Parts: sequence; C-alpha cells; structure tokens
Amino acid sequence: MAGHILTVAQQKGGSGKTTLAAHLAVALSQNGGQPVAVLDVDPQGSLGTWFEAREESLGEHATGLEFKTASGWGARREARALARSHAFVVIDTPPKTDTDAKPAIDAADHVIVPIQPTPVDLWATEQTIQLAAREGTPAFLVLNRVPPRASLTQEMADAINASGYEALEARLGNRTGFAASMGKGRTVMEAAPSGKAAAEMAALVSELIRRIGS
Ligand SMILES: Nc1ncnc2c1ncn2[C@@H]1O[C@H](COP(=O)(O)OP(=O)(O)OP(=O)(O)O)[C@@H](O)[C@H]1O
Ligand SMILES: [Mg+2]
Repeated sequence: MAGHILTVAQQKGGSGKTTLAAHLAVALSQNGGQPVAVLDVDPQGSLGTWFEAREESLGEHATGLEFKTASGWGARREARALARSHAFVVIDTPPKTDTDAKPAIDAADHVIVPIQPTPVDLWATEQTIQLAAREGTPAFLVLNRVPPRASLTQEMADAINASGYEALEARLGNRTGFAASMGKGRTVMEAAPSGKAAAEMAALVSELIRRIGS
C-alpha cells in the first residue's frame, strides 16, 4: 500500500511552507512511529539545510526521517517512489507554484497551504488552491503565524469560510520557538515538548490525520 503524499505549497513567499513541512514530518513520525520521508523540491534548499543541521545535532542515523531532493517532473517520480516505503511523504515546495511546485501538487494526495491571516496572503492563496483543484488534489488551508487576539484573524477565517476553501481548525501561533528550533535542525516538539507551539502541532496533526482518513 502506498503512503500518503502531503505537499506543502503556497504561492506567497515566506508563508511558512518550510517550517510547516519540517514540523509536519517530525510530528507524523512521532505519531505512531511510522516511516516518514521529506522531499525538498525548492531550489533554495531550505529544508535540506534544516535536515543537515538535524543530522549534525542528532547524528546521521537518528534524524527519524529520510531526506531527498528533486526538481521539475522528477519530483513526482521521487514522491511516488518514497511513498512505496514510507507512510507519509512530506514535500516542501518553492513559492511561484505555477512553474516549480506543479509536479509536487500533481503527485500529492493532499496539499497543505499555510496562510498568514492577512487579506494579501489570501489573494495569493487563491492561485495555489486553483492549481490544486485543476490537478484534482484536495487542499487544506492552515492559518499560520496567528497573532494573539487579532480581530483580523477572525475576519480572515470568515473570508476563508465564505470562499468555500477547506481550512483546518487547528492554527499555529506566531511563536519564536518555530524559528529557533528550526535553526538547530529540530522542531518545537523536540525543543520545547510541553510548550504551546508543540501543543498546536499535536492538535494540527491529529486533526489532519482524522480528516485525511489515514
Ligand atoms: N508559526 C510561526 N511563528 C513564528 N515564525 C514563523 C512561523 N512559521 C514560520 N515562521 C518564520 O517565518 C519565516 C518564513 O518561514 P518559512 O521559511 O518556513 O516560509 P516559506 O513559505 O518556506 O518561505 P519561502 O517562500 O521563501 O520558501 C521564517 O523566518 C520562519 O522562521
Ligand atoms: Mg521555504
């Protein structure tokens, strides 16, 4: 049985794709201890840099993940190959989904779209959602870097609702732990397992697993 391919995509740069991809991969592997692979198709290579830091800090054989890179249509082939031996394949993509991320969106069982709660971010998101729809791939929005007590966040949640896009109820706050842990090749679940950010990730992964039915 093939594993589940989750592609993290969002046209808007800096929306949190790489951070979410790394956190999803580690959280999915911690959750039930199933094999998880990460695939970086972004030529910026940020996820690869994170993975190298992870190998340095945990040791090459203790990262808990398999890591690969691919480009162009090779991404689809690589993702499907990884899915034969992993329960989940998490793909990090570059911004500009139309050209570079298309094969990864095409290969995905689900597209995960991080979005910061601002109107400009929602405009950019429409292109990503439409691309996923054209490929016939269901997409979930994840509100990311949500500030505490902002009325704009509720307005954005309402706008997403009205647009008919599917969003996860779980949200990730704007928390320095996400950035700080990534710098050391880790995640918030490892750097601060009893913190708020780790609790947000746990809620996100359990909702995601429930909704993708895997
Ligand atoms: N939930 C969060 N709380 C605080 N900071 C965050 C959060 N998510 C991401 N960031 C920070 O936002 C910045 C952009 O994140 P990231 O690199 O993951 O985005 P990206 O979408 O992959 O960017 P690009 O489009 O360049 O690939 C980084 O500095 C990251 O540490
Ligand atoms: Mg990135």
